[in-house]
Amino acid sequence: MRAVTVKPLKYEELPGLSAKLLSEHHDVLYAGYVKKMLEIQDKLETVDEATANATYSEIGELKREETFAANGVRLHEAYFAGLGGDGVPNGAILKLIERDCGGFDAWKSHMTASGMAARGWVIAAYDPLLERLVTYSCDAHNLGCVWDAIPLVVLDVYEHAYYLDYATARKAYIEAWLKNVDFAYANNLIAARGIPS
Ligand SMILES: [Fe+2]
Repeated sequence: MRAVTVKPLKYEELPGLSAKLLSEHHDVLYAGYVKKMLEIQDKLETVDEATANATYSEIGELKREETFAANGVRLHEAYFAGLGGDGVPNGAILKLIERDCGGFDAWKSHMTASGMAARGWVIAAYDPLLERLVTYSCDAHNLGCVWDAIPLVVLDVYEHAYYLDYATARKAYIEAWLKNVDFAYANNLIAARGIPS
């Protein structure tokens, strides 16, 4: 089995996103999901399966939080890896945005509206069933997931992602996030996963 470790940040601070905000988010919250994901996997090896019960049981709670932690790790890694750019798309991701989302301005507007409406995540993902880029939103790491969709551009709208810098001004945070998106992350994934564009 592959050893999972905390992936380091490639930047300390970004325009509009302070070092304190990013380090709290990365070093405490994201790293915490990695730790808990591994802890849950360990506990599942020895849990008493005979006590399984849907109202309450140790295995029931571990199985519920297993997907919460596993998606928490994946989504945070995509979020942090997708920052540090200039917010200007090019190449394959730009083609998908223009073909499937009515252009970059319309995509930004939809990401912003989705981010104001969601309670957890907004994920611009390639959906192999629809064969297009779709903006999905999730109210928790494991609520609203589409199993085979590939997250290309990931926006965290949990309050911990912005409150230190923006208090309740979520829209201003989303505007700052849009200016720092590194679309090279999406383009690398499109190439690696063979996504047609
Ligand atoms: Fe987060």
